[in-house]
Formats: sequence, structure tokens, C-alpha cells
Amino acid sequence: MNRELPIGIFDSGVGGLTVYRALHAALPNEHFVYLGDTARIPYGTKSLATVERYAVENSRFLDTRGIKLLVVACNTASALALPAIRKCVGVDVIGVIEPGANAAVAATTKGRIGVIATEATVQSGAYSKAIARLDKNAQVIETACPLFVSLAEEGWADSDEARSIAAKYLKDIKQSDVDTLVLGCTHYPILRSVIQETLGKEVRLIDSGEATALYVVTMLETKDLARRDGGEAAGVARERRLCDDLDHFYVTDAAARFARVAERFLGSAPSSLEAVEIWGQDELCAK
Ligand code: DGL
Repeated sequence: MNRELPIGIFDSGVGGLTVYRALHAALPNEHFVYLGDTARIPYGTKSLATVERYAVENSRFLDTRGIKLLVVACNTASALALPAIRKCVGVDVIGVIEPGANAAVAATTKGRIGVIATEATVQSGAYSKAIARLDKNAQVIETACPLFVSLAEEGWADSDEARSIAAKYLKDIKQSDVDTLVLGCTHYPILRSVIQETLGKEVRLIDSGEATALYVVTMLETKDLARRDGGEAAGVARERRLCDDLDHFYVTDAAARFARVAERFLGSAPSSLEAVEIWGQDELCAK
């Protein structure tokens, strides 16, 4: 496997940029190729069969472009489709559920953990199961917060509307006295301040994207797949910036909107952004 290859990341849309941001911060020498399936978002309200099909198509698309590792940034796809993805690509695949669950179990002191995610992720019970594998006595309460996705994309993360919606969604979690909360959806780190304010500063928030970035650091080292330096020529390190032209972004629709929301989330829009069609990739799945 070639160390120079980029790391592939896919999400149902723009939210996975929070995972890209965490990976970029943890791995400044690496290059990334990101696919946002903006034509088919949301995944969080769809069935297992549909999410699996979309996730396999996205993964095949990135794999055939040449990547050394695939990060499934989308919590819903990670919760529902990892086994299907792993059958269809030739690289290691890391989802965000297990790293998030691990970080939560490490952080909790009372063994009471909240998880907020999309409806499909909550219904799958993927976080509860992953947490139970690590600590069978941990108590987990999960709640879907679908409107957080729109609030983040609209740029209303710090608004009265966000505060009142957060108070409503997080009421049961707050009453159940959790000490740790997993932000189990790509968009939720954008609302981090409002969520923290609603639950109180004593509750530890776990960003599963950040936890995943630490996993990827370890995996690249273990497999000897990390790029050696940031130098593109003659070992001269080039300063990396989020969304610079060393990273490439694909979307399946609405590239202009993706760029606008990326600017809102990250402070800069992708320099290298391309709209593509990816349908039919699953026909290539040989295994
Ligand atoms: N990216 C999705 C996730 O993390 C949220 C948006 C969607 O529903 O597709 O679960």
C-alpha cells in the first residue's frame, strides 16, 4: 500500500466536514479525498437496505480513485453499513461509532452515558451495543435530534431557536443524570456550545469525529502507512490549511450549497470541489 495515497472520507453530505476537520488537525501530513452524497442526504431517516446501498456506492467510488484507508464519517452509515462496506472495498475501513463509544466509556465516571444521533442511528442501537461490549454495566440513554442538522446547516447554531430546541430534545437526557454525552451525528459538534450550555458544564461531550481521528493516527502508525512529512518536493514542508488544494472534495449534487455550508462550518470553502455521479458502483462489488 502506497503511503502517499490520500485518506478517503465519506458522509451523506456536508456534516462529515467536522470529521475531516478533526482528521486534518490530527494528521497534518496527510491528504484527504472527501465525498459528500448531497444528492441523497439525509441518511438518518432511511432504511437499512437503502443506507447500505448508498454507503457501498460511496465507498466503491472512493476506493477506485485510490485511497489507503476509508473513514466513514457518517454516523448513520457507520451504524448500519460497515459490514457491507468492508465486503466491497480493498482498504481498511474505520467508522465513527466504535471510537466514540470507546472515548465515552473512558470518560464516564458514573457509567451513565447519553447518546444523541439521527433516528436511524438510535434505532440501530449501534452506540448502546458498542458501549455494552466495553462496559456491560454502563447505562445508556439515546435520543434522536433531527432538527440539529438543519440548525447547523442554516448557521443557526448559536440562536434562541437552537437553545429552545436543545432544551426540548435533551430534557430526558438531562433528567437521567448522565455525566458523558456522545455527539453521535456529524453535525452536532457545530452545536456544541448550545448542547453544553443546556446540559451544564459538568457533562463531558464526546465528539466521535475527534475520537475517530485518534484511531486513524494509531492505525496509520501501526500499519506503517503514515506519510513521512508534509513536503511535496525536496522535503520542504508546505503549510496545510483546511480545504486547500491538497485535499479534493466530491459531491453528488448542489456543489455551490456545499461550498457555502463548508465555509460556515470550517471558515473556508474547498479549493478543489467537483460534482460527480456515483450510481451503479455496487455492481462492481465482487466479493
Ligand atoms: N451524516 C449523518 C450522520 O452523521 C447526519 C445527516 C443525515 O441524516 O444524513 O448520521
